[in-house]
Amino acid sequence: MILASMRNVSKVFTDTRNGRGLVALNGIDLDIKEGEFLCLVGSSGCGKSTTLNLLAGFESPTRGDVSFKGGKVNGPSPERGVVFQEPSLYPWMSVLQNVMFSVQGDEGKERVAMEYLRMVGLDGFAASRPSDLSGGMKQRVAIARALAMGPDLLLMDEPFGSLDEQTRRKLDNEVLRLWKDGGKTVVFVTHNIEEALMLGTRIVLMSASPGRIEKEWTLEPGWPRDLSSPSMVMLKGVIIGMLQACACANGAAPARLVTIGE
Ligand SMILES: Nc1ncnc2c1ncn2[C@@H]1O[C@H](COP(=O)(O)OP(=O)(O)OP(=O)(O)O)[C@@H](O)[C@H]1O
Ligand SMILES: [Mg+2]
Repeated sequence: MILASMRNVSKVFTDTRNGRGLVALNGIDLDIKEGEFLCLVGSSGCGKSTTLNLLAGFESPTRGDVSFKGGKVNGPSPERGVVFQEPSLYPWMSVLQNVMFSVQGDEGKERVAMEYLRMVGLDGFAASRPSDLSGGMKQRVAIARALAMGPDLLLMDEPFGSLDEQTRRKLDNEVLRLWKDGGKTVVFVTHNIEEALMLGTRIVLMSASPGRIEKEWTLEPGWPRDLSSPSMVMLKGVIIGMLQACACANGAAPARLVTIGE
């Protein structure tokens, strides 16, 4: 079943340098299937965050339709949880209060929030302030907070991009476990092709200027993935090759300012 979809979606921002339209996305068609773990990759500025923000409902499309469970996306909803690159926790609240803030309904907020903190291994830090936590721990709280909203779709925008390699791998495995156990659908933006290969059931490559979908690959289920297997080594090479080709093409023609449909 299709959980969310983008149909011929374009997004134009105003370029503050000259007041003209900057086409961030042009003609995006994307179906997100229920239960999949979709990794969105592409060079910087190709529109990955814009795509996620449209799915979250933080932005609206200039043209085309974004829908979720068959209805038009008109704004944010607890059904679509978001984890940003920077955790953006409320610094004046405890870890527990940060998560409680996202729990829907009035009953048993504390109990539910504690459950999610336990899920990400931070129940022992419920009373701590975010400033007392490491970067990886803060990001775990952000994940608990997003899950506490009870979303069907979890949108993650380079959630571990600022963490060291070891912490990132650990959190990748936790997200994988939460995805498998919780029956969620995940859209996960990353710059890191290996991370996408480790996690995704599908990898979608975007290219820039204006942002569009270049190519996609469906991966066989089965984790942990062996990235040293011949098929994975080959796929990694293909994706990196295409990514570099896109980046070179963009370098030759940077920041195209075009009219939609041009
Ligand atoms: N609010 C905004 N106002 C104006 N331009 C914007 C805005 N948000 C994004 N853009 C532009 O849209 C394009 C796509 O940006 P976006 O942030 O979606 O890229 P990205 O793929 O997420 O990049 P990165 O990998 O660096 O995070 C860029 O050219 C960016 O400058
Ligand atoms: Mg981004």
